Amino acid sequence: MKEKIQVTAYAQTITEALPRGILLNTNGDKFNSMVIGWGALGTCWSMPTFTVYVRENRYTKAQLDKTGEFTVSIPLEKPIPRIAQVCGSKSGRDIDKAAEAGLTLVNGETVMTPAVREYPLTLECKILYSQRQELSALPKEICERMYPQDIDGSNPMANRDPHTAYIGQIVDAYIIR
Ligand SMILES: Cc1cc2nc3c(=O)[nH]c(=O)nc-3n(C[C@H](O)[C@H](O)[C@H](O)COP(=O)(O)O)c2cc1C
Repeated sequence: MKEKIQVTAYAQTITEALPRGILLNTNGDKFNSMVIGWGALGTCWSMPTFTVYVRENRYTKAQLDKTGEFTVSIPLEKPIPRIAQVCGSKSGRDIDKAAEAGLTLVNGETVMTPAVREYPLTLECKILYSQRQELSALPKEICERMYPQDIDGSNPMANRDPHTAYIGQIVDAYIIR
């Protein structure tokens, strides 16, 4: 059962969960889920939005560009170690992450991308806008720390690839009970 929620009532839950790792789910050639630690709950063009930041080389990026939508799954408790490990360090290019991480997929309401029962707080988003970040416009310290040019884009953490920001309109929000 899905309990509909007002996203603003869960703003603290969402923003506190983010740095510990939540899931960004896509469903292009197949379902895939990656851990994200950066994100922004907000308002843009007078609509509720959730913005995600995805590096160039992620399998997730190709899926986002193909489908124009995503779901975000937030744990109500601590992150589950197996999910955090598989979805935060392996690529959907190489494995079926839903199977390997033990995710239970639940059909989306208004998007084709499923939600994840284990991380029950769900935002369904349709991408309104995307923009690749310009490294030369960043403070030098951030650029050197986050985008070391001697580390190739397949590295799961800091590497040379810039992020693309995807602003998603939140079209549905619920907790899977
Ligand atoms: C705690 C944590 C937070 C992360 N946050 C992000 C993020 O916000 N953006 C990003 O592009 N990658 C982030 N990553 C890295 C991806 O989760 C990782 O590279 C993943 O394997 C990519 O999967 P994919 O190739 O299937 O898309 C994070 C990883 C961890 C462990």
